Amino acid sequence: MKATISHIKADIGSLPGHTTVYAPVEEEVRKFVSDNSRGLLTGFHVGHVGDDIQITMVHSRGIDNPEVHGLAWNAFKAGTEVAKKVGLYGAGQDLLKDAFSGNIKGMGPGVAEMEITSRKSEPFIVYMMDKTEPGAFNFPIFKMFADPFNTPGLVIDPNMHDGFRFEVWDVLEGRKIELPSPENTYDILAMIGSKSRYVIKRVYTKEAHEKLPDENVAVVTTDKLSLIAGEYVGKDDPAAIVRIQSGLPASGESLEAFAHPFLVSGWMRGSFNGPLMPVGIKDSKMTRFDGPPRVAALGFVLKDGKLAGPVDLFDDVAFDGARRTAIEMTDHLRRMGPFEPHRLPESDMEYTTLPKVLSRLSSRFTPIEGHIKAETLEEPTRDMD
Ligand code: F6R
Ligand code: MG
Ligand code: MG
Repeated sequence: MKATISHIKADIGSLPGHTTVYAPVEEEVRKFVSDNSRGLLTGFHVGHVGDDIQITMVHSRGIDNPEVHGLAWNAFKAGTEVAKKVGLYGAGQDLLKDAFSGNIKGMGPGVAEMEITSRKSEPFIVYMMDKTEPGAFNFPIFKMFADPFNTPGLVIDPNMHDGFRFEVWDVLEGRKIELPSPENTYDILAMIGSKSRYVIKRVYTKEAHEKLPDENVAVVTTDKLSLIAGEYVGKDDPAAIVRIQSGLPASGESLEAFAHPFLVSGWMRGSFNGPLMPVGIKDSKMTRFDGPPRVAALGFVLKDGKLAGPVDLFDDVAFDGARRTAIEMTDHLRRMGPFEPHRLPESDMEYTTLPKVLSRLSSRFTPIEGHIKAETLEEPTRDMD
């Protein structure tokens, strides 16, 4: 049986700064979805991580469905009204366009959707990150589906032994490439290590997978708010749907990818590298330096279009060690203040407010005599030949 899982998220205002959602706003969004989902959705869940409201929907209309996207858009609009009434900070922030035109993509909210052939039991995890960007998923998704040190199923389970297919997007050039692993593992890594440019969009099983051939098994939001708005309007806090078990990474293999905090870009003013801390929903408040960046995970199962769950998977003592490490990393990094590599490199600051500050200084610069500009350095070398 075919089913579609659509996860759509947006920051429509937070309390007091970019810290967390205001419960009545989340309640309004939940009520709107509930009141308007008849005949459209077969199941849904509305929640939040940090300052982002997260809507998980199940239906049978396929991806890019105008009614499903419209429902999420209008629910965010309804929530924005409540946010405006109480004066929430950044009310309606991610709703970048005035009118909905049939597809929510490119309008601000993040979208991750997949149409699947539903298994007898269809378990999946929705990962939601705050204060970071889509490329933050590169490392953990690679570990889940391509690193046998994280996922021993790649070695042990005959259904996983052939590996998976990765669809990687170049979000700057607007092009994509499909590469199989393990055949092209090093090529995949050559790209996805540059996480602000190359992002894993989807993972598929291969044709040879006995239980689930050629199926989409993971999808990540890849919406770049900065590129849509042309200026900094908050990082594009991403989410991902990952199917698990029975020839796919086990629940624990998927979660294990977050057991050792790694650095992601975002955090304060979308301008800093910081550790990604796995937390339960109750701890997804972005406090210290507007962070540190966090990831929460909700586990569901799907049967005949109906959802059971969620279970709050990082709300567990087994991840206390990861949280402690993330806090130690935070302490170390914060001492660097505005210096790289805590602060992002200049190339990644292009869409922040820093260029505005630097442009104010441009008229005060004077040339350094005899200094060769970086782009002319090649010329003297050629003369010597
Ligand atoms: C990061 C984020 C926050 C804000 C910061 C300043 O994604 O949203 O760290 O950048 O709180 O916000 P403004 O400029 O709105 O005062
Ligand atoms: Mg925000
Ligand atoms: Mg956010």
